[in-house]
Amino acid sequence: MNTATTALPPALPPEASSTRSIAAALSHQSIHNLERYYDHWARHYDADVEAEAYCGPTMVVDLLDAVAQRGNIGHDSRVLDACCGTGLVGRTLQERGYRQISGCDLSRPMLDQAQASRAYQHLHNQIDLTQPLPPALLRHFDAVVCCGAFIPGHLPASALRGLVAMTRPGGVVVLSVRETYFDTAGFEPLLQSLGREQGLVVLEARMSARYLQNARAHYLALYVA
Ligand SMILES: C[S@@+](CC[C@H](N)C(=O)[O-])C[C@H]1O[C@@H](n2cnc3c(N)ncnc32)[C@H](O)[C@@H]1O
Repeated sequence: MNTATTALPPALPPEASSTRSIAAALSHQSIHNLERYYDHWARHYDADVEAEAYCGPTMVVDLLDAVAQRGNIGHDSRVLDACCGTGLVGRTLQERGYRQISGCDLSRPMLDQAQASRAYQHLHNQIDLTQPLPPALLRHFDAVVCCGAFIPGHLPASALRGLVAMTRPGGVVVLSVRETYFDTAGFEPLLQSLGREQGLVVLEARMSARYLQNARAHYLALYVA
């Protein structure tokens, strides 16, 4: 038996609708299958999420702009787009004037699309945010943004610890969390623990805001003490 072939999640058929592509992404149970799914989806991802009126990247960058002063963030600050995918957030950051944009993701083909966008100065390959992070990335960024990855089948709430660890003291983390995931995945107790342990502060929360045409998200901006 060819185990490499049987391990593959179903490739997207040409007639797959954007709605089904997104629904399939939410259903993955293992990091390996998730990575392979995005490897296959990379070339269709932008068109599929556009068809579903995906506005997460704009909402995340809007929130970063809104809190930038409190984290002493300017257009020359180092911004990491964690789970950058094809680069929708990086392109939005670049349009807003940010000039030092890094990205990281699990999927090489998604990163290839991000590379082609020319929005990023650095791209970090095969970073799994559920695993210990490379020491060189710790406390390295003025701002870390993460859009579209705190959703079922993707990042657990605990991955927020990694985003915080990559942010310099006094910097900010901005993330989206699917509304339905926020309550079930333990974000409230984690935010409280991070507040007690590390002095993390919620600077601004935009709750139940636009995300996809059929789903809403919470957007959080956090101050890293
Ligand atoms: C829905 S896409 C969002 C991409 C982009 N941020 C956007 O808003 O368009 C989710 C991305 O998270 C990445 N991802 C999922 N789990 C991950 C993990 N554990 N570590 C790093 N990246 C991960 C996937 O490879 C995929 O590119």
